[in-house]
Amino acid sequence: MSILSDKHILLGITGSIAAYKSAELASKLTQAGALVDVILTDAAKNFITPLTFQSVTSRRAYVDADLWGAEAHVLHVNLGKRADLLVIAPCTANTIAKLANGISDNLLTITALAAACPLLIAPAMDGGMFDAPATQENLARLKNRGATVIGPAQGHLASGLVGAGRMIEPSEILGHIRIALGLGGKLAGRKIIVTAGGTQEVLDPVRVITNHSSGRQGYALAQAALDAGAEVCLITAPTGLTSPIGARVIKVNSAEEMLDAVLSESADALIMAAAAADFRPKSIAKDKIKKRDGIPQIELEAAPDILKTVSSLNVGKSRYRAVVGFAAESQDLLENAREKLKSKNLDFIAANDISSSDAGFAVETNRVTLLFENGTKESLPLMSKSEAAEKIIEHVSRLLE
Ligand code: CTP
Repeated sequence: MSILSDKHILLGITGSIAAYKSAELASKLTQAGALVDVILTDAAKNFITPLTFQSVTSRRAYVDADLWGAEAHVLHVNLGKRADLLVIAPCTANTIAKLANGISDNLLTITALAAACPLLIAPAMDGGMFDAPATQENLARLKNRGATVIGPAQGHLASGLVGAGRMIEPSEILGHIRIALGLGGKLAGRKIIVTAGGTQEVLDPVRVITNHSSGRQGYALAQAALDAGAEVCLITAPTGLTSPIGARVIKVNSAEEMLDAVLSESADALIMAAAAADFRPKSIAKDKIKKRDGIPQIELEAAPDILKTVSSLNVGKSRYRAVVGFAAESQDLLENAREKLKSKNLDFIAANDISSSDAGFAVETNRVTLLFENGTKESLPLMSKSEAAEKIIEHVSRLLE
């Protein structure tokens, strides 16, 4: 169950060229399981049609004429009442001004007035309009009343000007929607550190020793923790993945840097999903190792074991109330995982068999067995890494209750 499953999202579209991007937002929300009710203003219809939204949401998209239709006076009340969140993206300066002043002269603004749910707005307007004192005052009033304003971004505007006014991208709006829905979740008020990715140990100026970890499971855990309302610090080795919106990200390369980053933070729980190096080159060549000098003999030394270091410092749970590890194994999965659970002093460990083609590194799915410090075990079936992350986060929140 994603945080968006069966959530009623009321999506308001106003008259900006960015309206075309909102079809992608409506589509992403729908794919994530949300029930998306779209309301277009008259001006929005100049840029995009209700049919576009109906096609991606499989639900009716509403326009001003519906205010006087069969459902008449109750339509706006019904839409407003059942919404979990009202998102207006793009939101023009005109609609911002109306919302700030309680003006309700179209279906969208009258619904906004009737809605009791949180309001999230993504402004979009041309050069200078965002900075105009009237717009800034209106936004300040809306924020004072609890509205969340996301963006606008800097960049090229439709007029050819460059400045603040572009609607932020649909993927980012989606991240902010998740945060808004997660507020007050099971991990509200808790801080979680998640590590992700395969560390890189430098050999010479062009070469590193690394591993096949994609970072997907760690990133999914960071997102699941955010969905549960946590403050999340994501400590990540290079992955090429987009960071979840709302996570504070610390980028590292080596196991040593990851250890330093982990030790520089305090949190309620630490989830070590990273594939940190066990070995690193004993010395780093200052210059590129040349082929003409023959095949090099590379001497390795132990890289710091982050979980072991943390567990030695976490006496009496003084540092973290919960520590979770992962065991990536190609043989004797449960025996090896059990050994790591003990030696690394973990609350639980997620064991995954990397020898199977549908689980472990570099795939979208995982088959994880959770082994707990009290000897119990939970075998999860094959599922997406996001679903596995939700299960793990449920256990973490239980440990922090
Ligand atoms: N880990 C760590 N520091 C390292 C290596 C691993 O904290 N230098 C953590 C991983 O993030 C994971 C757990 O230890 O949560 C187990 O990692 P894994 O690679 O499966 O085991 P290792 O302890 O490295 O042992 P081995 O590689 O011999 O299986």
